[in-house]
Amino acid sequence: MEEWRTNVEALQARALDELRAASEPEALERWRVTYLGRRGALTEALRGLSALPVEARPAAGQATNEAKRRLEAAAGRREVELRDQSLTRAIDDERLDVSLPGRPPVRGGLHPTTIILREITGFFQRLGYQVVEGPEVELDHYNFEMLNIPAGHPARDMFDTLYVAPPEVLMRTHTSPMQARVMESTRPPVRVVVPGRCYRYEAQDATHEWMFYQVEGLAVDEGITMADLKGTLAAFARHVFGSRVKTRFRCDYFPFVEPGVDFSISTPDLRDGAWLEILGAGMVHPRVLRMAGYEPDRYTGFAFGMGPERIAMLKYGISDIRLFYGNDLRFLEQFLS
Ligand code: PHE
Repeated sequence: MEEWRTNVEALQARALDELRAASEPEALERWRVTYLGRRGALTEALRGLSALPVEARPAAGQATNEAKRRLEAAAGRREVELRDQSLTRAIDDERLDVSLPGRPPVRGGLHPTTIILREITGFFQRLGYQVVEGPEVELDHYNFEMLNIPAGHPARDMFDTLYVAPPEVLMRTHTSPMQARVMESTRPPVRVVVPGRCYRYEAQDATHEWMFYQVEGLAVDEGITMADLKGTLAAFARHVFGSRVKTRFRCDYFPFVEPGVDFSISTPDLRDGAWLEILGAGMVHPRVLRMAGYEPDRYTGFAFGMGPERIAMLKYGISDIRLFYGNDLRFLEQFLS
């Protein structure tokens, strides 16, 4: 019996030692299996009682059962301890340092093209123009024919066309086809501006992109003259470039206007007052009016087409048009307002 008690005490001492060393739930579980499980050391010991002389069994059994209860109680305490520890650790790990500066939210902004398009269309809307948009995939009929540029006309060389389904379906090379589309579908008076993407089969460089925007303008009514065109564009230039701007019209050629002009601005604030061309314009050609169903004896009008990227380049001092659609945040972030 004494020997039995000694053994049980040794077993208990070893078990308690190991229990202290069990530092995570898995180790504790293994410990339970080893000592208290169905094949565990204590269970085996209880089974071994039958080998003792009958009179020694009760005392030995009691000692063993006590050891078992103590171990069970110790395991329960250890489990609570481990749970507390892991909770403390989690709280430590996830501690919020409220003294840290906050992370600034990522803020988007408008693309420079959008900014300038809104400025342009906004100006013309205040003059009573409507903003309309047209198809980017266009027919040869509208992109060329209706603009007095028949097949074989040398003026087609001015537009490096991208075809979708040759010879009739192409990417529009300018927004001017909307002149014809608008006139076909409405009666005068007409006042529209047409912002939109255009495409050309073009070698890219600092001033040429294969995709770019234009804003077309068209005003048709009885009695519209070249003076209206000049006044409108001069007011536009003052709006975008300030009151010190000077404007200049020179002869230019576009088959769909007569006369045709190019329009330049000069201000002391830009490139030392050099003349900078910002758009093409002119009086709508009588043939274009007639093809669209307007009577050229009764109606006259003017049209213009400007490149908003060019205007943005001047206004913001951007040196390369390829920056607009290069998706480089270092460029785009400069326009956050
Ligand atoms: N569509 C012409 C171009 O792309 C510009 C323009 C528009 C000229 C309207 C005159 C009148 O170059």
